[in-house]
Amino acid sequence: MIACKSSATRLSGTVAAAVGIRYFSTVTSKASTSSRILLHGTPTGAVVSDVAAFWIRAPVFGTVRKASTMTLTEKEQEEEKKATSLNGGGKKEEEKGIVSYWGVKTNKITKEDGTDWKWSCFRPWETYAADLSIDLKKHHVPTTFLDKMAFWTVKALRWPTDLFFQRRYGCRAMMLETVAAVPGMVGGMLLHCQSLRRFEHSGGWIKALLEEAENERMHLMTFMEVAKPRWYERALVFAVQGIFFNAYFLGYLISPKFAHRMVGYLEEEAIHSYTEFLKEMDKGNIENVPAPAIAIDYWRLAPNATLRDVVQVVRADEAHHRDVNHFASDIRYQGKELRESPAPLGYH
Ligand SMILES: [Fe+2]
Ligand SMILES: [Fe+2]
Repeated sequence: MIACKSSATRLSGTVAAAVGIRYFSTVTSKASTSSRILLHGTPTGAVVSDVAAFWIRAPVFGTVRKASTMTLTEKEQEEEKKATSLNGGGKKEEEKGIVSYWGVKTNKITKEDGTDWKWSCFRPWETYAADLSIDLKKHHVPTTFLDKMAFWTVKALRWPTDLFFQRRYGCRAMMLETVAAVPGMVGGMLLHCQSLRRFEHSGGWIKALLEEAENERMHLMTFMEVAKPRWYERALVFAVQGIFFNAYFLGYLISPKFAHRMVGYLEEEAIHSYTEFLKEMDKGNIENVPAPAIAIDYWRLAPNATLRDVVQVVRADEAHHRDVNHFASDIRYQGKELRESPAPLGYH
């Protein structure tokens, strides 16, 4: 795809670069009966606002021959000059053209205090206040063989984790969130595919699991602000993700009740880790720095919130994930499909 630098760029005979097959768009102004052919790029805002655009696929050589027969009338050129100068011209105008080319504009959002909303990865209506009253001590006692297997698998995974991170809880949290964000996405994806195959509703479970994955990813985005991964930690994440994604995918296909139970126990461990994190902060071994701005906006925290507040809301999220996943496993244990019991949506 060729990107034009100037909004006024037009094809001409001299632009006939030998580049084989290319995509380009045909843009027709309402005001004019003559067609204008632009390379996929950045037409002026004035032109864009009045255009219908569609993609066609054709060899560039053919395009050039066609375009070279076209000229703009003097009146059109005059209008275009005016539009360019009105928009300030130059780079600013070019950026505006890119954003509005397909008519998709990102509205400017302001916070309640009138300042700009600076996050493009989430919007104010996706923020929430964590439920800090949630029971942190709830534990599902493993009774069946599968439950015990899930429980001891998680316990076994904790051993190398403790050994690797020891008491570096900031780093530990960041690294574990890279794993915690996987099961929701895998489960949600598999339920999504199942819904398509079987022509049936999901009972809200696709959304619930994808929301969990997104929530976990936001935990990661938050902890990234307070702990920077080193090269070997990045390499570890790469390897662990490759193994864990595929293992969980297979595990979910074979036994969803085992997969959800295991996540339930993983979340119980996460609660324990964050409780230890808080203890270390209270002892003064970890500095209670100001909360990252992203966390203040995402969890609707007070402007003077600290890392301690962030860890508390994250821990509350983990307790919610624990309950959701044990609930999902219980549904499957009853021999039912998840869709038969509506998902607990609306927390986040
Ligand atoms: Fe998390
Ligand atoms: Fe979690």
